[in-house]
Amino acid sequence: MIKIAPSILSADFGVLAEEIARVEAAGADQLHIDVMDGRFVPNISMGFPIIMAIRKRTKLPLDLHLMIVEPEKYLGDFVAAGADMLTVHVEACSHLQRTLASIRELGVRRGVDVKAGAALNPSTHPHSIEYVVDDVDLVLVMSVNPGFGGQKFIPAVYPKIRQIRTLLGARRVDVSIDGGVKVEHAKPCAERGASILVAGSAVFEAADPADVIKRMRDAAGV
Ligand code: DX5
Ligand code: ZN
Repeated sequence: MIKIAPSILSADFGVLAEEIARVEAAGADQLHIDVMDGRFVPNISMGFPIIMAIRKRTKLPLDLHLMIVEPEKYLGDFVAAGADMLTVHVEACSHLQRTLASIRELGVRRGVDVKAGAALNPSTHPHSIEYVVDDVDLVLVMSVNPGFGGQKFIPAVYPKIRQIRTLLGARRVDVSIDGGVKVEHAKPCAERGASILVAGSAVFEAADPADVIKRMRDAAGV
């Protein structure tokens, strides 16, 4: 089953609770939360107070996408804030294996299941995760250069989805695609092995988010 993860970066933050309720009712499987620091990416988005507020408003799993340098400094705080999945960028981690392992350990210590994810920029080679395949629960393939919602999907990343699936072998690891995802991308992504579609503007800017989510799910055909 493909999972649809609306990215709240495209939500109206003035009425965030209503926006979350709207996509939850529309059939979202999890909420994607983009954390940006103005250093790893040229934009600043949101941090702990907002994540904690969201945690109180929804039972949906919170999928945190950390576009920050030195993410290892803040992992405990993100888990405490309510993260169910913590994804770090391979380009931002000097000690990626250690960072991924500590995400899982933090969850175990708190008696919760926290999934560890590795994200790849569009120009990053799939082999960057070759030696951490047993440390990841999720690989996030960026289909735009991270930093902003509403950008155009880069089709050159399509082959990477399959290459990553091949690297992962039979492991039960999610492959997520993030950036510019519209209904038309659902099928080609799912066919190549994507199991999560992150969609910001496609869902939040739609008059009928339930219809968009349903059409994405149907198009994915899995
Ligand atoms: C980009 C973010 C994405 C973005 C997706 O840096 O990681 O999650 O919010 O939004 P759309 O679907 O509008 O590209
Ligand atoms: Zn994201």
